[in-house]
Amino acid sequence: MNMDQRILEELRNKLNIVDVISSYISLSKKGRNYFGLCPFHDDHSPSLSVSPEKQIYKCFVCGESGNVFDFVKNYEHISFMEAVSLLAQGIGFELGYEIRKKKEDNQYNKYYEIMDIANKYFQNNLLSKEGLQARKYLENRQLDKETINTFEIGLSLKKMDGLTNLLISKGHSLEELNLIDISNKNKDTYINRIIFPLHNRDGKVVGFSGRIYDNTNLNKYQNTKETPLFKKRENLFNYHRAKEEIRKSKSIIVMEGFMAVIRAHTIGVLNCVATMGTALSNEQASFIKKLSNNVYLCYDGDNAGFKATLSSGEVFMKMGCNVLVIPLSNGLDPDDYILKYGENSFKELITNALPFSEYKIRSLKKEYNLNNIEDKTNYVNSVLLEVAKIEDEIKKEIILKNLAKDTNVWYNTLEKKLFELQNKKSDSKNEEIVVKKNPKDGYLKAMESLVYYALNYPHAITLIDNSNVYIPNEMIRLLVNEIIAYYNRFGKISEADFYTHINQKDEPKLIEMLKKILSQDYPNNIDDGQVNECLVAIKNYNIALEIKRLEKEIKEENNLEQQIKLMDEMLLLKSKEGKSW
Ligand code: GTP
Ligand code: MN
Repeated sequence: MNMDQRILEELRNKLNIVDVISSYISLSKKGRNYFGLCPFHDDHSPSLSVSPEKQIYKCFVCGESGNVFDFVKNYEHISFMEAVSLLAQGIGFELGYEIRKKKEDNQYNKYYEIMDIANKYFQNNLLSKEGLQARKYLENRQLDKETINTFEIGLSLKKMDGLTNLLISKGHSLEELNLIDISNKNKDTYINRIIFPLHNRDGKVVGFSGRIYDNTNLNKYQNTKETPLFKKRENLFNYHRAKEEIRKSKSIIVMEGFMAVIRAHTIGVLNCVATMGTALSNEQASFIKKLSNNVYLCYDGDNAGFKATLSSGEVFMKMGCNVLVIPLSNGLDPDDYILKYGENSFKELITNALPFSEYKIRSLKKEYNLNNIEDKTNYVNSVLLEVAKIEDEIKKEIILKNLAKDTNVWYNTLEKKLFELQNKKSDSKNEEIVVKKNPKDGYLKAMESLVYYALNYPHAITLIDNSNVYIPNEMIRLLVNEIIAYYNRFGKISEADFYTHINQKDEPKLIEMLKKILSQDYPNNIDDGQVNECLVAIKNYNIALEIKRLEKEIKEENNLEQQIKLMDEMLLLKSKEGKSW
């Protein structure tokens, strides 16, 4: 391993995770550990536990876990190395040369520099003589100076190469400028548009969106194309400004366009982000859920917005979020609505937001022709499916009564059908539990336990290494190999230091797997017997797979002699099954 690991270990040993986490959230001691409300999901009872002995934290509800560096990284939404520097600075710890150098070498830093220069250039243009017409346009749209400053709104000029030339005179190459879409075919990418900078989650400028403002018939908006910095699927407008407010208010409002977010900001609604016109990506959804479990959807009041509300709502529901809809209509977007009906009216809409199920029930009515029997039946069934998801019994009854009135279906029939649906739902839940008891899961648990044992009971590492067991899950296999290599190198290991090690590899999937494994519960006292049990479970699983493969091969084999040979092989394997090594 490298120097970094030793320095980081030294730093980590100087920090006490309980003190660091206490500076962010309040913790109280219960038994050996400390507990607090988990800041990584919408927590109502303390589910985050912090272990002073192990110097790690884990949330037994959302599964977030890690060491002191992980906590600061995740809480502050900064990179691992930034969290390390922040913590080092806090206690006046000198980080070694290698770490600082690594930071400076970050290949993206020069691109971020270019973006910053471009951003300032655009902002200056807006204030210049040539910006007069654009300033008038913004004034007409009721965007005042303060808003223009906050959102760093700027202007690109009619001149084709002003920015490109400026950046070249500062020593940047055309190649770089084209790569990050500041220039296009060696000319400025943005010509004569009002410019809105787009930031990544750390608040660094990674792209721009340019809007036409005089009557040209070009596309209304032009966004930075996909570049090494700008990833459309990951981008959420206003994320970096909104995250604190989202945390405080425990809710996030998702909008379609950034003008809506800017307008909401002007009336003090600060917890909004925008997906920028495209369909919600899985990446965006999971960033949103990480910030808050209470998701308000406030899409445009047109047909596209209606469809997008339904599909995004489903995505968030599946993720277990509490989804509410702020319904707009008559083709108005939030910006239009606020300008037309005012601040208070919009804030009332937020207060009265509809739970997603209710919104869906309301909107289903539009999709069916209730004069047609077939359609009416489908309508009733779809509504009942949604009602089954509602927990409040009174609400259920009100909806059923309305449904009975609307459709002329007898209330008792609806109630009976609903009852049937709900029972079916709990049946399928039972099935899931049965599936979970499948022996296949036994080997999965065994593989996961091995990782935990290896990190908490060093003799397990020797046992695993000597057993030569093949771990079928690739991520877990990589983790176990890393643990063995780490231990051989340093002669010791702990959960907390291993988190540091894996974080430095910067492989999100590996980190995710480690967190998933370590956030679960394991027995307190580990001995060789438990480790061997896991090894046997995994070996048996491998043998069972091999037997299955042989069975298939035997069936397909036409040559009798060959068939007998395969059978012998299979019998030998069967005799090994279930034995311990
Ligand atoms: P204004 O018309 O200025 O009020 O903006 P808006 O937010 O009402 O725009 P609209 O609802 O039409 O679009 C929502 C989002 O879709 C915008 O924020 C843009 O990100 C994106 N968008 C809209 N038009 C275009 C376009 O012509 N090209 C591209 N690439 N994106 C667009
Ligand atoms: Mn608009």
